[in-house]
Amino acid sequence: MLCYSYTMKNNRTENNITIRFIDLFAGIGGFRYAMQNAGEELGVTTECVFTSEIDNECQKVYKENFGDMPHGDITKISAQSVPDHDILLAGFPCQPFSIIGNMRGFEDTRGTLFFDIARIIEEKKPSAFVLENVKLLVGHNKGKTIKRIMEALNELGYHATYKVLNALNFGLPQKRERVFIVGFRTPCFFQWPSEKIPMKPLSKILEKNVSKEFFASDHIRKKRLEKQEPTKEPTIWHENKAGNISAYPFSCALRAGASYNYLLVNGERRLTSREMLRLQGFPESFKIICSYTQARKQAGNSLPVPVAQAVIKKTIEACAFLPSSYQYETDKLIVDGRLRLFEKEKEYGEISEASNS
Ligand SMILES: C[S@@+](CC[C@H](N)C(=O)[O-])C[C@H]1O[C@@H](n2cnc3c(N)ncnc32)[C@H](O)[C@@H]1O
Repeated sequence: MLCYSYTMKNNRTENNITIRFIDLFAGIGGFRYAMQNAGEELGVTTECVFTSEIDNECQKVYKENFGDMPHGDITKISAQSVPDHDILLAGFPCQPFSIIGNMRGFEDTRGTLFFDIARIIEEKKPSAFVLENVKLLVGHNKGKTIKRIMEALNELGYHATYKVLNALNFGLPQKRERVFIVGFRTPCFFQWPSEKIPMKPLSKILEKNVSKEFFASDHIRKKRLEKQEPTKEPTIWHENKAGNISAYPFSCALRAGASYNYLLVNGERRLTSREMLRLQGFPESFKIICSYTQARKQAGNSLPVPVAQAVIKKTIEACAFLPSSYQYETDKLIVDGRLRLFEKEKEYGEISEASNS
C-alpha cells in the first residue's frame, strides 16, 4: 500500500513548506546541519523547534553556532512540553539495554535514554524519525537489543527499518559505520541512500603549518616508524588494541575517549579540531570555541553529516512533504502515488518498503 503523510503538522502553503524538526541528544549539531542541508537540496525550509543536550560545553558550542541554547537533561523534560514537529532526530548515546525476562516493547526500555525518545514519539507522533547509533548496537546482546528497539517503535505504531551505513561511501575520508533507524507513522515507500561518492582526499582535509603542540614525542614517533614505513601520500596511522599500526589514506572512526596517539597524521601528529570537524563533514563556518580536549570529544561523539543528510533527504521524500512543483528524480513522479511507485520501480528496480522488521 502506498500512502502519503498529509496529516503532518508542518505549515504547508503552496510551494512553501516548512518542515519542523527536533534535535535530541544534539551534541554540537551534526544532525541539525544534516537536516538544514537536506532541506536546501530539496528546496524546502526547515525549522528546528526544540533541542536537548545535557553537556554544558556542547550547549555553549551549539548556541554559538545555531543561536539556540539547548534544553538540558531530556529525562527531566515532559513530552507534552516538546513542541509539535514533523521529524524527530536523535543520535542517542549507546547505552546497554537490560533485557528483563520475556518482556517486550516500549515499557521494557524504561530507564534507558531510548525510552525518552520513545515517550516523545508516543506523545507527539511526528510523521517520521531518524535515529543514529554505533554499529555495535546491531549485534549487541546477540541482536536482542535492536530487536527490542524495533518492537518498541512498532508498539508505538511506527513502521521502522534500520541499516548500517559507512561515511566512506558518502565522500568523507573516515571509516565510520553507524546504524540509522528510520520510522514513519504512515506506511510509505522509503529507499535507503545508496551513495558511492568518492572520498575527499586527505590533502583537502589536512591543515598546513600545524603548530608544534600537535606533534607526538620523538619516542612515540620512533615507535611508530619501527612498525610502519612512511608513505608518500598523506595517511592517518591507526593503532589497534593489539598495538599494531596501519596507515590508510582515510581516518578510522574518530572516538571521543580514545588515546591521544590512536590516530596520527603521517604517524607524527594529532588531528587538529578543524580537521576532525572536516572528517565529520561540518562546514568551514563552524565556530570552534572550546578547548582541544572538548573539541576532540565533541567531534568524536558527533555524526558524519553527509550520511545523515542523505538519510534525511530520503525520509523527507518518502513522507511526500515536498511541494507539488518538486521535481522527483524522474519528472513523471508527480501525478499520484501509484504513478510515482510505478515509475520508481521502473527506474530503480527494487523499492525498500519501511517494515516492522
Ligand atoms: C552520541 S552524542 C550525539 C551527538 C550529536 N549527534 C552531534 O552531532 O554532535 C550523544 C549526546 O547525548 C548527550 N546526552 C547524554 N545524556 C543526555 C541526557 N540525559 N539529556 C540530554 N542529552 C544527553 C551527550 O552529552 C552527547 O552529547
